[in-house]
Amino acid sequence: MDCVDHPIGRFYGRMRSGKLTSDQERLFKSLLPNVSLTSFSDLKDDLQKYKAIFIEVGFGCGEHIAQLATLHKDSLFIGCEAFVNGVAALLVKIEKFNIENIRIFYGDARLLISEIPDGLLEGVFILFPDPWPKRRHIKRRILQSDTIAMIHSKLKDGGILRIATDHPEYQLWIKRLITHDMANMFEVKSFDRSTRPDEQSWPTTRYECKATDDILYVEASRRRV
Ligand SMILES: C[S@@+](CC[C@H](N)C(=O)[O-])C[C@H]1O[C@@H](n2cnc3c(N)ncnc32)[C@H](O)[C@@H]1O
Repeated sequence: MDCVDHPIGRFYGRMRSGKLTSDQERLFKSLLPNVSLTSFSDLKDDLQKYKAIFIEVGFGCGEHIAQLATLHKDSLFIGCEAFVNGVAALLVKIEKFNIENIRIFYGDARLLISEIPDGLLEGVFILFPDPWPKRRHIKRRILQSDTIAMIHSKLKDGGILRIATDHPEYQLWIKRLITHDMANMFEVKSFDRSTRPDEQSWPTTRYECKATDDILYVEASRRRV
């Protein structure tokens, strides 16, 4: 487990597990520099080019972001991931499907989000975030009231925050935060496995495939002011 201190807080999580394949090493050298962002200012040209901007926090192996980017070529999808093997897996998809509208932020998503101007984003996706089930680790959860408030400020009116988890205790935590504590900030719809939006609008992720428990899907739209 890695732990990195940032001005906006501390990141906990795995940053590397298996060794990269030689193909992934090649993509890190040749493709990552062309698609990566190190700060919001790197997006300058893209802001004019795309109709809408979405961010996925912790894209894992990148199934969800790769599919959405392929379906919505007029929008820009920024994937944030701190786990090197996840970044490598998304690079493979970008090359294989020749995807042009993904940018990768390799690091703690909160750093990038904090730099984004208010009211810019059309949507933010946080799918199957690490649940940190032990009581003493709860502060490590990405979904805290300050992170959600920051995301809320970066969304357009009507912009969406999509969350999913199969962890029962994290489900209660999320419901309390979003539908109770922050009820004045979002209009919330929730779904289960049988009512979840279709694959075209909400592609399945690797963790979703592995989930055996009930899943809570939340779509929170920033209230129009
Ligand atoms: C449980 S996995 C889920 C991956 C993927 N969303 C899915 O559903 O298959 C959570 C991922 O979030 C990433 N992550 C956790 N905190 C993060 C942060 N602050 N910034 C970027 N990525 C983060 C982890 O590295 C991990 O890959």
